Amino acid sequence: MAEPRFGIWANVYGSWASLQHPEDPLDASWERNKRQILLAEQLGYDSTLIAQHEVNPFGHHLDQLEAWSSAAALAALTERIEIITAIKPLLYHPVVLAKQALQIEDISEGRFALNLVNAWYKPEIEPAGIEFPEHDQRYVYGREWIDVVKGLISGERVTYQGKYFQVEDYQLKPASRFRERPTIYVGGESDPAKDLVASSADVWFINGQPPHEIERLISEVRARPRRGEPVRFGMAAFVIARETDAAAEAELEHAWELAAKDEPAKAHVFNNADPKAVMFQTFQKYPHIGTNGGTAAGLVGSYERVAERIQAFHAQGIELFMLQFQPFEAEMERFAREVIPRVREAALTVS
Ligand SMILES: Cc1cc2nc3c(=O)[nH]c(=O)nc-3n(C[C@H](O)[C@H](O)[C@H](O)COP(=O)(O)O)c2cc1C
Repeated sequence: MAEPRFGIWANVYGSWASLQHPEDPLDASWERNKRQILLAEQLGYDSTLIAQHEVNPFGHHLDQLEAWSSAAALAALTERIEIITAIKPLLYHPVVLAKQALQIEDISEGRFALNLVNAWYKPEIEPAGIEFPEHDQRYVYGREWIDVVKGLISGERVTYQGKYFQVEDYQLKPASRFRERPTIYVGGESDPAKDLVASSADVWFINGQPPHEIERLISEVRARPRRGEPVRFGMAAFVIARETDAAAEAELEHAWELAAKDEPAKAHVFNNADPKAVMFQTFQKYPHIGTNGGTAAGLVGSYERVAERIQAFHAQGIELFMLQFQPFEAEMERFAREVIPRVREAALTVS
């Protein structure tokens, strides 16, 4: 298996944990995101994930970074880091989105990836006059959508007759000059999401959760019929790494105190989440700081402990660790300085 890779979540909401952290003022601006990703690249991070939301689910009065225009700008400004951009199929026609993906693939010289996410937040979709189908029907729509996109970003001439999309003899030029096509990630935890991963994705993004759940989820996807290369796996996590376990636990406690101040914003998110979204059922099982599982992955502890846990997840099959911190920039520097070298050293002594 490939070496572990490390990525960071672009600060599209302005914070991935407390909205009121004294050392991490809420800031979703392009300026801040640009600085953050350029710093991540300089620190040696391999990847960044730009989540897609048109409005901020923690409150529509809050700023929200636009994903696809930011991805294109970041592609031009960076040189090495992978740029993964989330996409909700309901929001873009697949031909238009495939064209944008190929353009960013070209600007980035082969570093672009899309993350298909099937939507859970109705107030982003319905008030725009866009239909929000029921959970499993969204996956029927998403499957047709990715079939069309995958063909087009592979440079194929596509004819498609589906329930939702009819495409006639369509081809996009240029296709990727650097590889077969941009990488396809999928984020989602339900059975139709797992089916979609097995049939159509290169990488499955899993929400952060304890190792026994990760093992179960990976085996469920590996057991599904699949053509071509095996599925690869990535996991989201919120990291609190300190000199000692005790110091990390104290920081976690502080994070919970700060989190209590955001209860109304969190209630807004949960009250508007599709109750059928399996992701939110998992979140309730494992309370956490951060989003997408966050600290439920257990990357809280001394530098050695966090490095060991990363090694253990890697042995289970996780190749890409997509990380959140708070305050973001200072903690991502600490992680690059203290934890990444320990993970790499451990890998050397094992091999
Ligand atoms: C790593 C990761 C990233 C995600 N990013 C987004 C995002 O950018 N926008 C969004 O609306 N949902 C995002 N999601 C949530 C998925 O859309 C969510 O899992 C899905 O709507 C619920 O489907 P499920 O029932 O299959 O879990 C993400 C999920 C994961 C695991």
